[in-house]
Amino acid sequence: MLDRIAVGEIPRKHHIQLRAPDGTLRYEHCITRDGFDGPYTIAYHAGRPHLGRPVDASHGFARPVAAGPRPLLRRHYRTGDLHRGGAPIDARQAILFNADVVLSVLHPDREDPVYLANADGDDLVFCLEGGGQLRSTFGDLRFTKSDYVCVPRGTVHRFIPDAGVKQHWLVIECRGGMGIPKQWRNPVGQLRMDAPFSHRDFRRPDFVGPVDEGIREVIVKRGDAFTGYAHETSPLDVVGWDGTVYPWVFPILNFQPRAGLVHLPPTWHGTFAARGALVCSFVPRLVDFHPEAIPCPYPHSSVEVDEFLFYCDGNFTSRKGVGPGSASHHPAGIAHGPHPGSYEGSIGATRTDELAVMLDCFLPLEATAPALDTEDAAYHDSFR
Ligand SMILES: [Fe+2]
Repeated sequence: MLDRIAVGEIPRKHHIQLRAPDGTLRYEHCITRDGFDGPYTIAYHAGRPHLGRPVDASHGFARPVAAGPRPLLRRHYRTGDLHRGGAPIDARQAILFNADVVLSVLHPDREDPVYLANADGDDLVFCLEGGGQLRSTFGDLRFTKSDYVCVPRGTVHRFIPDAGVKQHWLVIECRGGMGIPKQWRNPVGQLRMDAPFSHRDFRRPDFVGPVDEGIREVIVKRGDAFTGYAHETSPLDVVGWDGTVYPWVFPILNFQPRAGLVHLPPTWHGTFAARGALVCSFVPRLVDFHPEAIPCPYPHSSVEVDEFLFYCDGNFTSRKGVGPGSASHHPAGIAHGPHPGSYEGSIGATRTDELAVMLDCFLPLEATAPALDTEDAAYHDSFR
């Protein structure tokens, strides 16, 4: 949830009449979080937004299913190997999940032919490769390589990936909501001067008014089941809206990293907070400057936390045998640390060019069968 913006036609007060030039009444649509206590947006539709007739959903992706009990090991999945094209609404493949987050990968090769509203959580998409347009009732939002895209729960939207370009996206579905960590806001909700980003670093939707693409189906995901709703008119019939709930883009390279005299823990790279999870951004930066500093992360046991790391670009100080699209899962219960030689080899380094998205979460992550198909079986022993 970002700062309030207002676009298009809106009346001068909440809950009063808004009329088209011919006198027709517009329909107010309040989109509220935390019941009615949290952030909200009020949109105005040309028609009533609640007229969809239930139909069998024509699209959707598989619900996450655990592959079964497995020994507690450090794991590495090569998500580039999860080949399945299709529209984004069909292409998502879950690899790891718990009750708070579902981590999925997709390689879409065409645009969504229908709209989706995910009522199960906020989707945080990270575009490793490719780019495109997110079209929603709030307007169009362009994204490209190395962008995070936030699609708030319930947003009626579709993705239009750029044609002829390789696409590789990670999606973190945050079932208890996600947003900016509290410590980065001042008492009025503005991002603090010492936050690692400012309001200027985010891109907001470009609102052009009502859109009719001829699409009438909205597919709603709730409880990992998909239900279609057929509308008589375009669901993107919004004439204006204002509020703080809307999709946005944050380019990961807009994150302002910190370096310390000695190594700073990952929490300093905290970018987005979700229920039971923290998303961190590791971006190119100078490293620790104590004359005896060891810049490489120390072996550690963060004893309540499963760590997921999605590698994007650059050389990783601590790990070997991983590359863009690699996803590692280091579970709580066993210590993890650098690969042989990395710890010693980092002494004297002045910078790192690594780019990665990390997720620390409190509930154990379970792997799905598609993840197992891409697993690097030698990974656990590669630390010996
Ligand atoms: Fe770690």
